[in-house]
Amino acid sequence: MLPLPDDPRMTVAEAWQAGREHLAALGIDEAGITAEVLLRHAMGVSRTGLYLAWDRLLAEDAWTRYQAHLAERARGRPVAYIVGRREFMGLEFAVDERVLIPRPETEVLVETVLRLTAQTPAPVVVDVGTGSGAIAISLAVLRPDAVLVATDISPEALEVARANAARHDVASRVQFLEGDLLEPVIAAAVRADVVACNPPYVAPEEADALPAEIRDFEPRVAVVAPGGPESLHRRLVGTALRALKPGGWLVVEVAAGQAARVVELLRQTPGYRTVQTQSDTLGWERVVSARRDGQEGSEGTGELLSPLV
Ligand SMILES: C[S@@+](CC[C@H](N)C(=O)[O-])C[C@H]1O[C@@H](n2cnc3c(N)ncnc32)[C@H](O)[C@@H]1O
Repeated sequence: MLPLPDDPRMTVAEAWQAGREHLAALGIDEAGITAEVLLRHAMGVSRTGLYLAWDRLLAEDAWTRYQAHLAERARGRPVAYIVGRREFMGLEFAVDERVLIPRPETEVLVETVLRLTAQTPAPVVVDVGTGSGAIAISLAVLRPDAVLVATDISPEALEVARANAARHDVASRVQFLEGDLLEPVIAAAVRADVVACNPPYVAPEEADALPAEIRDFEPRVAVVAPGGPESLHRRLVGTALRALKPGGWLVVEVAAGQAARVVELLRQTPGYRTVQTQSDTLGWERVVSARRDGQEGSEGTGELLSPLV
């Protein structure tokens, strides 16, 4: 491992190079881009700001912060937690260890919801297990007429999601409810056009084999399904029928390799039709959707909605 010098008298370019070599020597992936992101965070500058300062001496306090960030990364802490944010659907979300870091694959779920609701005016969308709020908040931003309800079993996650809703100026359009899966939604008599969910999908017995970056830093409640993913999917599929309007859609993100089983579950569950899947950029079936039986518009919208619309 390369020692990082205490002497900060180096240019920004030299500091980047030292950080890159340090991370690479530790076997950390994407050492160049990681060093750049951490250096920018330490300096408090944009990418352009970094390049404009490229040949200047790095300030001592920035060097101290940069060393601390590199040390955190070296012990495995994900970059998104170090810098406190992650981009999702072109929007910036604050993240910390209370929430899962939103993944690019989850954008497939958001795109699916946007497509399925394209012809529905003012759709009511429930995001179960909202975490940072990435799904609900990006939908609120991208569909300004939509009404969002976001749930999570973790009160800490809901704090982060509420702050993100405020950050994107949609707090008045997203109702946050704490509780198990759809329980708080059913209790509030919400009737949804879409129930979307990116549930934890790792079985407890697989948790130890997760990459350390996930296992040691992301919240276990966000990653591991206590009774296994099958049982969680079964509960979600069963209870969603009570939260969906007739003709409404259940849209679930699944782990690579899980789609066939969830498709089968939906096909075997009376009350659903039109089961379909969407794939991510790597070709994995990532999102499974199914429609609740019944005629669209044959039921009211539920009681919770009046204060929101
Ligand atoms: C895989 S993370 C998804 C977070 C976020 N929706 C995203 O896509 O980035 C799963 C989320 O579900 C929440 N969760 C886990 N079990 C739950 C349950 N039984 N009921 C409600 N939320 C749950 C976790 O706290 C976590 O925020």
